[in-house]
Amino acid sequence: MKKTICIAGKNEVAVNGLAYVLAHYPDHQIVCLPNATDVGSDTWQPSLRRFCRQNDIREVRLCDLYDVEDLVFVSLEYAEIIDPGRFSSNALFNIHFSLLPKYKGMYTSALPLLNGEVESGVTLHRIERGIDTGDIIAQLSLELGLYDTARDLYFKSMDGAFRLFSSTIQSLISGTFTAVPQSAIGASYFSKAAIDYSRLAISFRKTAFEVHNQFRAYTFREYQMPEYAGWQIARTEITGVKSRMPPGVIVRENAVLFQVSTIDYDILLFKDYYPQFWSAAASGNLDQLNASIENIEDVNLRNGNGWAALAIAAYHGHEDVIARLLAVGANVQVTNYKGTTVLMYAFSHYESSGRMQPFMMLLAHGCDPQARDKAGKSVADYMRERACHDLLHLIDAT
Ligand code: TYD
Repeated sequence: MKKTICIAGKNEVAVNGLAYVLAHYPDHQIVCLPNATDVGSDTWQPSLRRFCRQNDIREVRLCDLYDVEDLVFVSLEYAEIIDPGRFSSNALFNIHFSLLPKYKGMYTSALPLLNGEVESGVTLHRIERGIDTGDIIAQLSLELGLYDTARDLYFKSMDGAFRLFSSTIQSLISGTFTAVPQSAIGASYFSKAAIDYSRLAISFRKTAFEVHNQFRAYTFREYQMPEYAGWQIARTEITGVKSRMPPGVIVRENAVLFQVSTIDYDILLFKDYYPQFWSAAASGNLDQLNASIENIEDVNLRNGNGWAALAIAAYHGHEDVIARLLAVGANVQVTNYKGTTVLMYAFSHYESSGRMQPFMMLLAHGCDPQARDKAGKSVADYMRERACHDLLHLIDAT
């Protein structure tokens, strides 16, 4: 029987879930419900609203769904609390990013790490009145490594949730699933008040393991990095050195790290050089660039705006920085989240300064002038649009 399948939510997991039903259930009516905060363009995560517009999927409001009797509603990180009493259908499901009954509620990528868990998971459950309290249909457990951060757990959860979704959606549509009530024992719930991200404070009156867990639980570059003594901290490492100083005292500091005492063992806090790296690419400070390159792992890492160092250097027109980045293996085809290429940034530099050299240099190093951004345009299209023909012949010559 034909159903109305609604995918509600955000980010890669919702986009992949929707793409899956489009590919596998073309005979059903498929609609979508993006989160209210979805602005319709990609950021570090793909926008569900943008995906729907591109694929001509009808976007609905929650209230449009109340009377739909053949509805199969699946929340994949949908932000609103749903009152099942208002729906005619009872085929209402959510995939929660935890191994329920543990960690109902918020911050499921941070709290299991904060608590030193060695596993988390994803759970498909019926939507009931309570928050994440519905009967469980299926779950997948996810192993947590000692160095996994909140960001790692979030991506693992999205991946696990999609696997769970694709392996169970048929049973949700046909109504052939079974659901078991959640255990009351072992259950936990955390509200928004559980973590105040505007005032993150690390407590060192804890064991090294607990301090390590605090740092990695707050490590999610697109949101924030944990801080210590004026530095962002990239990662931490527990030493075998027994702490002799009171908890929180800096035992040693050098360019790379702090060694800090805790209740039991000293811990190493590695300084995060990415902010300096990206600001050197913008200012053209070659010494700062070189010093920071020594202390980062990935020259292609993009900042919160989606800019890799090479894009920043191209935009600001620093040939010496561009040359250094290329020498250490920067990827010339790197783009921002909207697909803006490094050549497009060099063209922006040309427009503001009249300087062609960065553009020519990047073209000579294999930057693809045919590459299109997510609006479907190449750098040549932008040049024609702005009646700026000076650089076009350079592209034609390649
Ligand atoms: P979010 O998508 O808001 O979902 P939830 O709170 O339901 O997990 O956030 C995803 C993860 O991102 C969250 O589990 C913890 C982390 N996070 C931060 O590190 N900083 C923040 O400011 C926020 C809001 C979340």
